Amino acid sequence: MRARVYRVDREAPDPEVISRAAEVIRAGGLVAFPTETVYGLGADALNPRAVEKVFRVKGRPPDNPLIIHIASFEDLYSVAEEVDWRAEKLARRFWPGPLTLIVKRSPRVPDVTVAGLDTAAVRMPRHNVALKLIETSERPIAAPSANKSGKPSPTLAAHVLQDLGDEIDLILDAGPTDIGVESTVLDLTSERPVILRPGGVSREEIEAVIGEVEVHPSALGLLFHSGESPRSPGMKYRHYAPAAKLIVVEGELEEVRNAVASLADLLMSRGIRVGVLGSDGYSYRADIVRDLGSRSNPLEAARRLFVSLREMDEEGVEVIVAEGWEEEKGIGLALKNRLRKASGGAVLRADWLLRALKTSPSSVYTEVMGT
Ligand code: TXA
Ligand code: MG
Repeated sequence: MRARVYRVDREAPDPEVISRAAEVIRAGGLVAFPTETVYGLGADALNPRAVEKVFRVKGRPPDNPLIIHIASFEDLYSVAEEVDWRAEKLARRFWPGPLTLIVKRSPRVPDVTVAGLDTAAVRMPRHNVALKLIETSERPIAAPSANKSGKPSPTLAAHVLQDLGDEIDLILDAGPTDIGVESTVLDLTSERPVILRPGGVSREEIEAVIGEVEVHPSALGLLFHSGESPRSPGMKYRHYAPAAKLIVVEGELEEVRNAVASLADLLMSRGIRVGVLGSDGYSYRADIVRDLGSRSNPLEAARRLFVSLREMDEEGVEVIVAEGWEEEKGIGLALKNRLRKASGGAVLRADWLLRALKTSPSSVYTEVMGT
């Protein structure tokens, strides 16, 4: 099966196209659709067979639950068992928008959708096409990001087509997504709310509404320690990763740039095809250079991150060396998290790297490339 792709206007999507897509959802099929964060792979959240298909085509581990997308506040009460004052306030303030709330689930939601948990993740996306699709289908839509499991999330319909084009029914293409990283996942099932995944709504914005929240250690993008049981099953898998090996260099900016440039030089001198992910238009020598834009505009950097990683893969680079982003305010925390996670933990300190490159370039090479 090759997916049909329909171009839709974001502000005024053609009702005929939307109802065709809604028919697919109602019949238990799969529709990829745009949200304000990334493209989602949608199925009827209340139809277990449709949801099973999502897991299958994505190659997603069955213990990693899906987000349920809704189009009205009433829908929240149909999928949640309990909606406390915090959920109410946050939904009123941020929906439609990039905030996912973890709440006690209703028995109406099939086990497979929530991977057998007694909680459900719910959000109302801020995108006309998504909202119209949910409304017209007349059911909540379960949707993970529309990429193969582990790959960078799709910010363009073309990415969906690359990853899943042969396995799904239909793709609604409304152009690039606004935010470029996924929604913030906030667990409200404990006394003190916890950000399980930083995203489009910042910690500061949430705290302004409900007071202090915790940030789960894995939200910093450090590797999950096996043995501890994860709050969010998605935490324990490698994510957002390009096919190339990604090395993130963190530290003081000038040192970071020197270290990135020297590492890229070393690798290229040994015949490796290298990509560099920089910022501020700083000029690097590499087989391909992508720039995430100004350091003072992390929103733009977040929007460009996944598409840049995919472009590097298309150019066939073997190693990507990236300047780190460490600012934790606003969208910064999400950017830091995604970049670190995409590297699978290959995060190096610039000062260490500069010293090592001077004293023992061969051991740096072996460390980076493996033996
Ligand atoms: O922006 C987004 O959130 C996009 C768009 C399509 O809405 N969706 C998305 O879905 O990123 P996905 O499946 O790629 O990520 C959902 C995350 C996973 O880390 C999953 O483990 C977590 O939410 N999650 C889902 N249900 C959960 C639950 N009941 N408890 C804890 N974590 C949950
Ligand atoms: Mg995902």
